[in-house]
Amino acid sequence: MSNNALSQSFKLPTGVTVKNRIAKSALSEGIAEANGRPSEALFNLYDQWGQGGAGILFTGNVMVDKAHLVNANVMIAEDEAFLADYTTMTNKAQASGSHLWMQINHPGRQSPKYLDQAPVSASNVGMPSSLYIQPRPLTEDEIYDLIERYGTAALIAKKSGMKGAQIHGAHGYLVSQFLSPLTNLRKDKWGGSLENRARFVLEIYRNMRKKVGADFPLGIKINSADFQRGAFTEEESMEVIQMLDAEGMDLIEVSGGTYERAAMVGTQQKESTKKREAYFIDFIVKVREKVKSPLMLTGGFRTAETMAKAIENKELDFVGLGRPFCVFPNVAKDLISGAMTDCTVPDLLTGVDKIDMTGMLQTPWHQFQLVRMGKGLPPDPNMDVWYVYEKVTGRKRPV
Ligand SMILES: Cc1cc2nc3c(=O)[nH]c(=O)nc-3n(C[C@H](O)[C@H](O)[C@H](O)COP(=O)(O)O)c2cc1C
Repeated sequence: MSNNALSQSFKLPTGVTVKNRIAKSALSEGIAEANGRPSEALFNLYDQWGQGGAGILFTGNVMVDKAHLVNANVMIAEDEAFLADYTTMTNKAQASGSHLWMQINHPGRQSPKYLDQAPVSASNVGMPSSLYIQPRPLTEDEIYDLIERYGTAALIAKKSGMKGAQIHGAHGYLVSQFLSPLTNLRKDKWGGSLENRARFVLEIYRNMRKKVGADFPLGIKINSADFQRGAFTEEESMEVIQMLDAEGMDLIEVSGGTYERAAMVGTQQKESTKKREAYFIDFIVKVREKVKSPLMLTGGFRTAETMAKAIENKELDFVGLGRPFCVFPNVAKDLISGAMTDCTVPDLLTGVDKIDMTGMLQTPWHQFQLVRMGKGLPPDPNMDVWYVYEKVTGRKRPV
């Protein structure tokens, strides 16, 4: 099987052409300045990724409100104060023809208490962990303010020269919290029926579209399911995807899981699912039958052959890769040229079930690689998992 399928260009509904079928999915970098301004480290990182050959580079999630952050040193876009810095980063990322899209997010209840003493959400359903404070429900005025903020961030993406913007509607963050009946207990028009729970994301999309005009690509990353009892199901996801499709999305990216059940990075996925690579492929094949919006699938893709086959079989239009871009910055270029046929990344297993089952080292280990790249150093695939464990938890490794 050739990798030509991966090298084909693709025209989005807005008419914008993307140079190939490999996208770097959003990876929260954690290396912005403390106030959320894109930093020199981010310029260095996007300079490297810009040379790496991806069709689309999604930024790590960018926050719409500095009072509610997903992690420290995350990028913030609530007004145009950092426009020049976003422009610098965009120019680096797009210097070799990749398109940079801003991923826009609000953590809702998934903001740890060291960052957020007063989290907000659809309802007052807390995270099942002492690391988080119970959120309070947003008022209706606050909901409209947030819808406005997502639009403002999309406009900042456009003004800085980026080629698109993506709503983060996955992984248990605020949009996901509105969609899930487990975290949205509202009795007003923002909760209850699926139509009501989907209102928040649909209004966000409509406002973004109003702000950026008809020719600027907009997309969403959404869960195939939350993989938790009583939460957002595959059936509901299918319906919401159809609603988004009817609005005219340029790109719908499918993922899955929340930080309570990290299915997006393969945690607790069956061995057979991991072997088959793309974790959510069965779902996207069903989506394909029902929607006309272009589709992207992220989670588990590792071999050029599997990726090319999915494109050739028209199961999806873009292959999304996350962790491989942290270890192999040129992964897109190398998979397309054939210089690389497999981009498997380290398993990061400690051998201690309690740690490995949660996938808790996945994000920090990979973010540490981005820190290195931000300093102009190459990634270190041999970085010790226990070193990361000790740094993150402040605890010594168990003996
Ligand atoms: C360090 C790190 C940061 C991530 N940050 C984000 C993010 O900001 N937004 C998002 O949608 N997904 C984020 N993810 C999830 C990835 O985009 C992707 O869905 C996941 O890693 C599965 O793809 P993979 O198997 O190719 O790594 C992150 C993953 C990692 C490892």
